[in-house]
Amino acid sequence: MVVNQWDKYAEIFDRGIGNGEEDLHRNYLDPLIFSYLGQKKYTTIVDAGCGNGYLLNKLAKISTYVVGLDYSDKLLKASKERIVGSKNISLLKTDLTQRLPIKDNSTDVVIANMVLQYLPQIESFAKECYRILKPGGLLLILVDHPGHYLYARAQELIGKKDPHFLESGSYFKEGKRKKKSLWNKAILEYYHRTVSGYINPFNLLFKLVKVDENTQDKETPRILAMKFVKK
Ligand SMILES: C[S@@+](CC[C@H](N)C(=O)[O-])C[C@H]1O[C@@H](n2cnc3c(N)ncnc32)[C@H](O)[C@@H]1O
Repeated sequence: MVVNQWDKYAEIFDRGIGNGEEDLHRNYLDPLIFSYLGQKKYTTIVDAGCGNGYLLNKLAKISTYVVGLDYSDKLLKASKERIVGSKNISLLKTDLTQRLPIKDNSTDVVIANMVLQYLPQIESFAKECYRILKPGGLLLILVDHPGHYLYARAQELIGKKDPHFLESGSYFKEGKRKKKSLWNKAILEYYHRTVSGYINPFNLLFKLVKVDENTQDKETPRILAMKFVKK
């Protein structure tokens, strides 16, 4: 199962991400997250799929309570070590495709940072976010942009297969694929979705207020980021 692959690569992932200093988090993901959050103070922020917990201490500066959810025991352990001394951060082992262990209408913000591409389906996560968020609450979603691999796909179609995208296919064919990842040290399974495949399940319940598409190489899209508000 895709959810179980993270324990295997937890040390590589933790070392690579550290406190969020690597390029993607420092220069692309975190600036988007904090621009979406603005200068406000929050009561409860949920980091859904918190990984090694690099974001938790930063969120604790702007929120009374922070909850990190993840399914990987090893990454939850790394998160625990990273939040030592912070009394307002809690960690809960959770499968994000199941019911979230959080009360109805109790949360100001849910952040899913580079997580949804690893969930086999996102419909129940959308419903659960709706259930736990307060009216007006924010849902921030950041994923690998579904068009990121299209240059590699075009090369593949003329016989030059990219060694990173081990399984590919038409942009419109959603489903499980494999890629070389984590600085070329891991083979990860993920679920390819189109841009509309990401937006529609959430837009049924939330209002989409901002979309960003970032690039690292000025040619191909790298990150798809979306800010939704609970209606
Ligand atoms: C690429 S990492 C991102 C971690 C962190 N948000 C970050 O940006 O560094 C993906 C995370 O999603 C978690 N994950 C994947 N599938 C999950 C699931 N079904 N339930 C809970 N966590 C899951 C993994 O354990 C991993 O920590």
